[in-house]
Amino acid sequence: MLVSAKEMLEKAVAGHYAIGQFNINNLEWTKAILTAAEETKSPVILGVSEGAGKYMTGFKTVQDMVAAMVEEMGITVPVATHLDHGSYDGCKKCIEAGFTSIMFDGSKYPIEENVAKTKELIAICREKGMSLEAEVGSIGGEEDGVVGQGECADPNECKMIADLGVDMLAAGIGNIHGKYPENWAGLSFETLDAIQKLTGDMPLVLHGGTGIPDDMIKKAIDLGVAKINVNTECQLVFADATREYIEAGKDREGKGFDPRKLLKPGYEAIIAKVKEKMELFGSVGKA
Ligand code: G3H
Ligand code: ZN
Repeated sequence: MLVSAKEMLEKAVAGHYAIGQFNINNLEWTKAILTAAEETKSPVILGVSEGAGKYMTGFKTVQDMVAAMVEEMGITVPVATHLDHGSYDGCKKCIEAGFTSIMFDGSKYPIEENVAKTKELIAICREKGMSLEAEVGSIGGEEDGVVGQGECADPNECKMIADLGVDMLAAGIGNIHGKYPENWAGLSFETLDAIQKLTGDMPLVLHGGTGIPDDMIKKAIDLGVAKINVNTECQLVFADATREYIEAGKDREGKGFDPRKLLKPGYEAIIAKVKEKMELFGSVGKA
């Protein structure tokens, strides 16, 4: 069923596990993630970047596609449609399209402006029964045109935003979008701990989930992270599986060129990767 992310995240904080946000790009991606969630009985958040929304022709198409798939696939686990790294205008469009959750990424604004815009969007979300994620301190690297410097968040600014009544808070703690460089210093648990102490039961969000070592993921969950975003890792396994299929010449055997066959190995690789992450995050059986 389609729901806001509020309740699933509150349960995750109380139960000391995390919900995965997996980004979608098309029907196959969505079907793979919904299948993994249903088969493992995990609540799930489908992340949609503004770029991916545009690629799929618009947020209304995305929302209607997900709603129809949830119904026709008989999905029983809680599913949220969530705008990822949304601009102020993008948030407005997703609210209109019927998304159940949005992220307003105001990290590029001075804190006063981030506060003002976040406040305004919270009021709309409350009215619509949607959940809202805010961001303080930018996530390093680039994702779909959103570039961050990667500075650690100021815990006091995190408290300021948390106190507005957001449902989840993304804080930069040395995490980076995409592949981590060899010389990456790791997550700043000191910053995470300070943020958690000031924000209490606020579900914290860890972006850049691709390639973070398992022990760091577990420690982050212990320190209050209740939502973990994974995008690049699904893209990598999809590309690898598709390459393997083509390099083995399978697209030239019989009807191997049929897109339903050609995309199948990548689709299956996403299911396996998402299940692996759900297991790691501890969300299996929590639906
Ligand atoms: O917002 C989405 C993510 O933070 C995903 O990051 O591509 O590094 O897994 P990733
Ligand atoms: Zn992100």
